[in-house]
Amino acid sequence: MVSSLALSTLALLPLVSAYSKTFVVPHVNGQDDSPAVVAALANYSSDSLILFKKGITYNLFTPINFGKLTNVEIAFEGNATYPTDIATVQAEVAKSTFPGHWLKITGTNVTLRGTTDPNWGWIDAHGQAWWDAMQQTNRPHGINFQVTNGVIKDMKLEKPVAWNFALSGAKNVHAYNNRIHAVSSTKSFPFNTDGFGGGGTDLLIENNFIQNGDDCITVGSGANNVHVRNNYCEGGHGLSIGSLGKGGSVASVQNVLFENVVMVNELYGARFKSWTGGNGLARNITWRNIVLYNVPFPIYVTQNYWDQGLGPKPPTDSPNNTHIQDMLFDNFSGTQLDTPYVEGSCVSDPCWYAVANATGKEIAIFDLYPNTTANIVARHISGIRPSDGAKQAVMCDPKTVTNDVGFVCQNGAFVQTKVGYL
Ligand SMILES: *[C@@H]1O[C@H](CO)[C@@H](O)[C@H](O)[C@H]1NC(C)=O
Ligand SMILES: *[C@@H]1O[C@H](CO)[C@@H](O)[C@H](O)[C@H]1NC(C)=O
Ligand SMILES: *[C@@H]1O[C@H](CO)[C@@H](O)[C@H](O)[C@H]1NC(C)=O
Ligand SMILES: *[C@@H]1O[C@H](CO)[C@@H](O)[C@H](O)[C@H]1NC(C)=O
Ligand SMILES: *[C@@H]1O[C@H](CO)[C@@H](O)[C@H](O)[C@H]1NC(C)=O
Ligand SMILES: *[C@@H]1O[C@H](CO)[C@@H](O)[C@H](O)[C@H]1NC(C)=O
Ligand SMILES: *[C@@H]1O[C@H](CO)[C@@H](O)[C@H](O)[C@H]1NC(C)=O
Ligand SMILES: *[C@@H]1O[C@H](CO)[C@@H](O)[C@H](O)[C@H]1NC(C)=O
Repeated sequence: MVSSLALSTLALLPLVSAYSKTFVVPHVNGQDDSPAVVAALANYSSDSLILFKKGITYNLFTPINFGKLTNVEIAFEGNATYPTDIATVQAEVAKSTFPGHWLKITGTNVTLRGTTDPNWGWIDAHGQAWWDAMQQTNRPHGINFQVTNGVIKDMKLEKPVAWNFALSGAKNVHAYNNRIHAVSSTKSFPFNTDGFGGGGTDLLIENNFIQNGDDCITVGSGANNVHVRNNYCEGGHGLSIGSLGKGGSVASVQNVLFENVVMVNELYGARFKSWTGGNGLARNITWRNIVLYNVPFPIYVTQNYWDQGLGPKPPTDSPNNTHIQDMLFDNFSGTQLDTPYVEGSCVSDPCWYAVANATGKEIAIFDLYPNTTANIVARHISGIRPSDGAKQAVMCDPKTVTNDVGFVCQNGAFVQTKVGYL
């Protein structure tokens, strides 16, 4: 089984329940509870349990940089709240001492957990006010977890302002049973509420329930051996690789497997994006057993990424591109949303995600440069059906591919080839 091979390096993770010390975070009504945590780190940054107790709603009015922890568990069994007003949060983010995330955790052997009690363990960032105001200045990132040998489980995030879990630089981390609820209760859109950023090594991200307004799970440069499985994604922008190679940077992403993911009302299903003029390589990347409901772009690969909402394509005189090698899309089914619609993140005309000349019926779009890809294949994707029963289409320029991609590479009808049935 690929899954067990992929995880051969994922050691049994720390399940130590008896830490030699426990710090129960104190709470004072109306006051910031973060400073007490920061002060306690002098004594509790190793072999400790840091407990946010059930029954209390803690005030995380300022960010907490946990620094470098060793053999520590941070448990959110109580609720926690960011400041409710935008300006207070912005002032913290603007400080030169802002650690980059509201909660920053680094070190070795660290568990970050919430609780399975549905009424407790929520961290509420009050994102609704930010979304309603379309406020994008000095937004805080949520949780940085740059840990070697780590667990993130049962965490629950309510209305994050924007980005959630960042695993860039993490090693050997198991993230499971977490919930992200970035769902707007008005017509406003929860911009940039990315679920997991998985640019680490030896990561297993599974059984998470993510409702948000950007990439459900995105794997960025530096990633190696990342396994994403059995997650639920709703409302966001897909299972993504990228974006890679911005400003000519050299990307490296390898050995990534996304499997058994249900995607509901997502803009994209499987998505790869690298910037024009990028460098580096993305290799051995698979998406398989993906079930889609109402997804306009089920399979979308572009080496031409830029934010169309910000203007025309930026010029590049670089002859280079982020190369792609051994990329597989296997066993996709479900419905493609192929009727005209405008996704909530569209604030420009054309929308940032518009594809020139697309008909809306494309179940796969390969927007590639010549001589930069090897062995990119989509098979068993005929189960993706346009929701209005229209004939399936694809976009693909035969001058850009050297192998049989599993369907006739053309701008037009989806015609499966032999490789597509294998
Ligand atoms: C740290 O431990 C020392 C010695 O036990 C104690 O005096 C001090 O109050 C503790 N500090 C905190 C912040 O808990
Ligand atoms: C982390 O945990 C492993 C397994 O229990 C242990 O062997 C290792 O020494 C720990 N690392 C540190 C830095 O304490
Ligand atoms: C904890 O926070 C969540 C999310 O904000 C809320 O739904 C829940 O009612 C809170 N729990 C209690 C006991 O107040
Ligand atoms: C490709 O990636 C998968 C999943 O991470 C891994 O199990 C497999 O060994 C890799 N294959 C190669 C040839 O690197
Ligand atoms: C295809 O994916 C579906 C949904 O995950 C799964 O039920 C089915 O077993 C997969 N088929 C194969 C041949 O793996
Ligand atoms: C293009 O790639 C080559 C080989 O990796 C590298 O030496 C060169 O600097 C790159 N050029 C640009 C403009 O990035
Ligand atoms: C769209 O189609 C028109 C007409 O065939 C063509 O001139 C144009 O280059 C196409 N645009 C893109 C981005 O493919
Ligand atoms: C791609 O490679 C072929 C064969 O080496 C070469 O003839 C062709 O000019 C290349 N195309 C581009 C756009 O670089």
